[in-house]
Amino acid sequence: MPTFPARSRLYGFSLALIAASIAPFAPAQTPATPPPPVLPATLLVDIDHRPSASLDGAWHYIVDPYRNGWGDNPDQPRLNGFPKNDHFDGTRLVEYDFAASGVLQVPGDWNSQKENLLFYDGLLWYQKDFTYEPKPGKRTFMHFGAANQRASVFVNDVHVCDHEGGFTPFDCEVTAALKADGKNFVVVAVDDARRPDTVPAMKTDWWNYGGLTRQVYLVDVPVSYVDDYSLQLKRGQGDEIEGYVHVVGAAAGTTVSLRIPELSLARQAETDSEGNAKFSLSPQNLIRWSPQHPKLYRIQMSAGDDHLEDDIGFRTIEAQGDKILLNGKPIFLRGINIHAEAPYRGGRAWSEQDAATLLGWAHELHCNFVRLAHYPHDEHMTREADKLGILVWSEIPTYWSIDWKGAHALASARQQLAENIRRDHNKASVILWSVSNETPKSEERLVFLKALIDEAHQQDPTRLVTSALLTHLNTADKTAILDDPLGQYVDVIGSNEYIEWYGDKIGDAPLFTWKNPYNKPLLMSEWGGGARSGLHSEATGDAMGWFSEERQAAIYRDQLAMQAKIPFLAGTVPWVLMDFRSPTRLLPNIQDYYNRKGVISNKGIKKKAFFVLQDAYAKMPQ
Ligand code: GCU
Repeated sequence: MPTFPARSRLYGFSLALIAASIAPFAPAQTPATPPPPVLPATLLVDIDHRPSASLDGAWHYIVDPYRNGWGDNPDQPRLNGFPKNDHFDGTRLVEYDFAASGVLQVPGDWNSQKENLLFYDGLLWYQKDFTYEPKPGKRTFMHFGAANQRASVFVNDVHVCDHEGGFTPFDCEVTAALKADGKNFVVVAVDDARRPDTVPAMKTDWWNYGGLTRQVYLVDVPVSYVDDYSLQLKRGQGDEIEGYVHVVGAAAGTTVSLRIPELSLARQAETDSEGNAKFSLSPQNLIRWSPQHPKLYRIQMSAGDDHLEDDIGFRTIEAQGDKILLNGKPIFLRGINIHAEAPYRGGRAWSEQDAATLLGWAHELHCNFVRLAHYPHDEHMTREADKLGILVWSEIPTYWSIDWKGAHALASARQQLAENIRRDHNKASVILWSVSNETPKSEERLVFLKALIDEAHQQDPTRLVTSALLTHLNTADKTAILDDPLGQYVDVIGSNEYIEWYGDKIGDAPLFTWKNPYNKPLLMSEWGGGARSGLHSEATGDAMGWFSEERQAAIYRDQLAMQAKIPFLAGTVPWVLMDFRSPTRLLPNIQDYYNRKGVISNKGIKKKAFFVLQDAYAKMPQ
């Protein structure tokens, strides 16, 4: 039975997070800017299925590296600050003016929109006028699909919310801030300055795309509304759906109706003192969701004046020994890693079209699985995966070195995990919650990550928890040992290894033997090598030119040959579907600030390795 995530836990993190931070918007090395007043952000599940008024489009912006926008008196961070949205008209000294400033498109990172912002990490202010009248008897929320990395939102110079975490949504209540005449403006401070105490921290092998990177829209809900629910198929043979619908502002005993018309199911339940109405349904003739048949059912929920619909697939996912079972049967996951890099145009991916392109390529590879690295992707990705029948590894950006002893980092990781689970725990495609990627071993790191694993299990007992771990490779005796102590706490072990790229030679991979001291499924969560599309080498074997398509293809052939001999391998996930921007990949004329390990170039050109992988997956049992 899924537990009921304590509402307070989610909001508590944002409070703890901002309160725990010394200066939410100042890199550790600059003088601390007093944190703005802390207001919790909310999060409404299935908000993308509620009628909304879009705020996408042109927003004015001001780049603010010296943080002038927080006002001329740092001790009162909003006196004369940019949230006031003042204008210069020659009669008064005003030293900013959004209306006279440049324009950025929202959604969209700033780096890929303006040449002079490509490398900008820091504070940038957005502003937009919008017409929207308060709705009697309604509460109005401003929804942000994501803002990287720390955002403070002001409507008509009223501070409505803050949020930290660059890849999870948040909803700011604006009801009381809206003007009666409907003429409003919104100002958002977005700061993506990297800091040692955030998640992720100072270094990532991906571009730190800053800004309002996903859609922004207004949603009205009744005074009492459904903000969360979970309906999951109980593990085991029988088809029993159980879960809850949570209603905000409902007195105990409020009736909640749940209908699944296609299954001729209609039930009512009453909310308890926490606002949860619990359900247990035994449908007849349920068609379980699977890659072969991604069946989604229309769900209709009503609670008082609130009516909400969703499309949900029902399936079970379990680990049994070293096997992963989907609907009670072992499945081998034919995967690929995907970064949220927009095909063709570049920049942060966010749209339905981006999702269709990226997952369409995965489908073309005969994948039944994707790892959405290294952070929660836009909700369009998990909606599309639900429709296509592609299973998903969903990850929070606890990546490489993190401030394992810091209260701020732990609060942020826990908040992002809770938000990720909240947003996607009704998506059948999502089967794995990952708490980290390639984190260096230490006692503090083990304690930090075990806390996250326990939280994930507690908030969602219906899915599996994993992490992508570094593997102990011994070139001398060609052994690979899964010896990370975190392996004792996850349900599924992810192993990142780059045999024949970061070490060893072409031809070595098939010589390796693998040892798995944990009787748990292993997913080869990263492997591969780089190639610049169109660069070829006539040589053979280990003499093949580095970054040639031929060398990359040879690595794929060798890796797949090695993996075919690992009895406890439950799936494989090469790194990576498409080349992506990275500040750590600096080789001129080959990398040019792109990580070239894609099997497809960032212009959509398929490399030789794409066809090696496609052929191998096509020959596996579908
Ligand atoms: C690491 C890391 C990736 C990175 C990749 C690489 O395993 O998890 O984020 O891009 O290796 O070196 O290309």
